[in-house]
Amino acid sequence: MNYLRKKTIASFYEKKDEKGLAKHLTVWDITAFGIAAIIGAGIFSTIGRASADGGPAISLLFIFTAIACSFSAFCYAEFASMVPVSGSAYTYSYVAFGEIIAWIIGWDLIMEYAIGNIVVAISWSEYFVSLWNNLSDNVFHWGYFPKWLSTDYYTGYKNEIHKIAPTIAGIPIMFNLPAALITLGITWLTFKGIKESRTGSNIFVLVKLAVIFMVIVLGSYYVKPENWTPFTPEGVSGVLKGISAIFFAYIGFDAISTTAEECKNPQRDLPKGIIWSLIICTVLYVLITLVITGMVNYKELRVADPLAYVFDKIHAPAWISMVISISAVVAMASVLLVFQLGQPRIWLAMSRDGLLPKSFGKIHPRFQTPSFSTILTGLIVGVPSMLFIDADLITDLTSIGTLFAFVLVSGGVAVLQVTQPEVERKFKIPFIPAKYSLTLILAAVIISALVFHNGNLQKCIQGLFMNEKGSLVVGRIVFLLTWVTLIVLSFKYNFSLIPLLGVLTSGFMMLELSATTWYGFFIWLAVGMVIYFAYSAKNSKLNTVAEK
Ligand code: ALA
Repeated sequence: MNYLRKKTIASFYEKKDEKGLAKHLTVWDITAFGIAAIIGAGIFSTIGRASADGGPAISLLFIFTAIACSFSAFCYAEFASMVPVSGSAYTYSYVAFGEIIAWIIGWDLIMEYAIGNIVVAISWSEYFVSLWNNLSDNVFHWGYFPKWLSTDYYTGYKNEIHKIAPTIAGIPIMFNLPAALITLGITWLTFKGIKESRTGSNIFVLVKLAVIFMVIVLGSYYVKPENWTPFTPEGVSGVLKGISAIFFAYIGFDAISTTAEECKNPQRDLPKGIIWSLIICTVLYVLITLVITGMVNYKELRVADPLAYVFDKIHAPAWISMVISISAVVAMASVLLVFQLGQPRIWLAMSRDGLLPKSFGKIHPRFQTPSFSTILTGLIVGVPSMLFIDADLITDLTSIGTLFAFVLVSGGVAVLQVTQPEVERKFKIPFIPAKYSLTLILAAVIISALVFHNGNLQKCIQGLFMNEKGSLVVGRIVFLLTWVTLIVLSFKYNFSLIPLLGVLTSGFMMLELSATTWYGFFIWLAVGMVIYFAYSAKNSKLNTVAEK
């Protein structure tokens, strides 16, 4: 059996006239959709942990991560301009690498969409509780939201909330009710077919942007510049600890590519929308980080609702943190909605290709939504966030899963530029020969490291490949080997630079994640492989067509 069988780009154009979706989206709608998907739990919540680990220099990590994302964003844009259909990285990989890789990506995207939404649901709950308590203090006096009703078992035991929880037959009762309710509500909306309309998404975006501007402008009055020194209090390793949380904040620009079929002119507007949304979010993220790390000492930021917290901390009027909490709740609900819509549609595409059972592609006769997949997504997000998941671990899993998709999409573009140069691309990444430029960049990195260590080779090697405790960081060696391999391959195939930089930067971020995250990732992929060989490979449409 040929596990690397591919779909052709022509096959998408054959089907294009089947049942076209309404094409309304312009470049500004796409940018707004991107911001709707990007700004959420990352900036309202996980930024707190990253800032506490790395200090004010986390703002630089935001810039680095944005640059890294922009390489992949260019690749998503070129792919979207070649294959203007939904399905995102899954569909692209089916064209570039073949079925088994497409399956891996489809399976992997569950980590980005469904698992990512667990993080967002938990963060939503945290802001909801903060808002509830704030309203209780200042307006309604209805009492604090019970901790046992807003905590899953894992966190409950970790924070000793089980000691104050009510019990039934001696078993403490704890669950995250707000997380469950928001997931239920969003699942119901997506089931009923309420699409995130253009107007809705634009309004969400305006609310988010207005509040983020407010935080930046008001917060800047309270900045004490002495909080910015030292700028890197925990060293480079402290900053790098934040990679997954910071990267999480950018996830979403790739989801724009799923709107390809609904754009007026996808080839022209998608690339612009992707890049604009990235630029706008980067500027806001860097400013926000500088403001919050300037308002309080970075060590205090290890909280779930950092943006509201900093204003409480400096005793600003209570309405400010209330407005922030309200907008956080709105912002995160819109992220939930985008991903809760995206996940079932990827399963739908996989089911149509025969890689998942027919039920995943079942369309509700009245609401015309993928009913089974939508409910399943709701359960996968709702049950763990209500009962047993810790947001920190799964933030890392979401990031590694998404980064892996970026590596494959960037690699896919590099490969297709060489193997299928004749296919029309309305957006084409400028060609810079990777063979010379990648070599030069590597040489520049090594020379700078040598200069930084005053020409001491041993110290230079230690600095590049060892951590503070003096042990070897295997990931860095893997990274160097990958870089060298890509240079060698570029001499053979004349690859283009930007896609390879996408592979390298996303790969670097993956390799900086913890060993535990990698174990989780491998276990996830292994389960996926079992399902592929037991079911998908045999039932694949390409296989059944080949057999006939
Ligand atoms: N970037 C999205 C968020 O931060 C996933 O919520």
